Amino acid sequence: MELEEPGDKIDRLVFQPEEDAILRVALDLCIYGILAQQDAAMTTGEVAKEAKADPVLMARILRNLAAFGHIDEVGADKFQANKFSRAFTTTKGISLAKFSFDFAAPAWRAIPAYLKSVQYMNPTDAMDAPVQQAFKSDKHFFGLLVETGILETFQTAMSFYREGRPEFLDIFPAEERLINGYDSSQGHDGVLLVDVGGGHGHDIQKFVEKIPAREGRLVLQDQEDVISQVSKSDVMEVMVHDFFTPQPLKGARAYYFRMIFHDWPDEQCLLILKHITPAMKPGYSKLLINDIVLPDVGASRFATQSDINMLALLAAMERSEAQWRQLLERAGLRVTKVWQGVPESVIEAEVAE
Ligand SMILES: C[S@@+](CC[C@H](N)C(=O)[O-])C[C@H]1O[C@@H](n2cnc3c(N)ncnc32)[C@H](O)[C@@H]1O
Repeated sequence: MELEEPGDKIDRLVFQPEEDAILRVALDLCIYGILAQQDAAMTTGEVAKEAKADPVLMARILRNLAAFGHIDEVGADKFQANKFSRAFTTTKGISLAKFSFDFAAPAWRAIPAYLKSVQYMNPTDAMDAPVQQAFKSDKHFFGLLVETGILETFQTAMSFYREGRPEFLDIFPAEERLINGYDSSQGHDGVLLVDVGGGHGHDIQKFVEKIPAREGRLVLQDQEDVISQVSKSDVMEVMVHDFFTPQPLKGARAYYFRMIFHDWPDEQCLLILKHITPAMKPGYSKLLINDIVLPDVGASRFATQSDINMLALLAAMERSEAQWRQLLERAGLRVTKVWQGVPESVIEAEVAE
């Protein structure tokens, strides 16, 4: 039930960009970190001195942050960290806030003018989305990440994005569906799981923690710029691979894609799938897609936010179960089960007979 009054909602929403801007300033000045360093409250002067900022300006910023609940005002000129400011001292909070404010928000702001310019047609060209208008560039989102110097922040944000939410192995019974039935006869060459476009490999790390006893190689694939940032590991192989080219690892037990297909319009998804299906062994290899499956009614804020984010950054979309099934069928795949989760689900598919 909505508790907020309509007038309050208008005030909150029209001033939202201002709150975001002060949050970004607080991160630049490490205000959340400065307050979190001690249990006692701090004065404006003390915070200003540590942050190397004008005390008059700092008083205005702290007053605003306290009014919006980012920090606590515990007395006259006394400010203290709270659970929200502490959240913005974590890697997840900092990387997500920086990525959103510095990169995504300009693209979100470009949505109205962009949609007007395309006469409100649903965008399907990844080279022509609000993000290209925002950055006045003809580069694709992933190229823009490199060009704007935000790639590492983005990958860190991705690694921590799901913290505190159910993850792949909370939804998908890997022992039952992957480990059972793994073909040991392939010896050292056998591949258990390929994480395609797996970023820094956080999902494979979690796989190893959760299933320490297993057979078969675990392989992380991503673009060169990303793979070059991944530290060496005993448990995971790393491989530069462009998923718009044929998959070089044949007959793996599973090809896992987390938050990949929602980045691309249908035609590019079909191209990616076209390069993976010839590598899949019928009746053995599984395609696992870990992405949002929109419900027919009552999509969550998180899911619809993500859908519009995909529109702005990639001319892409979140999909309903019917849309997923249709897409996979077009690529010669058969959905064997949808493991429902919130916010993301796992779609399990195999080559159609
Ligand atoms: C939204 S991120 C998801 C990363 C990871 N799977 C996760 O869930 O955290 C998309 C990933 O796709 C990778 N990517 C984009 N284009 C690619 C391509 N052509 N070939 C391989 N990886 C690509 C990006 O570098 C990025 O790591």
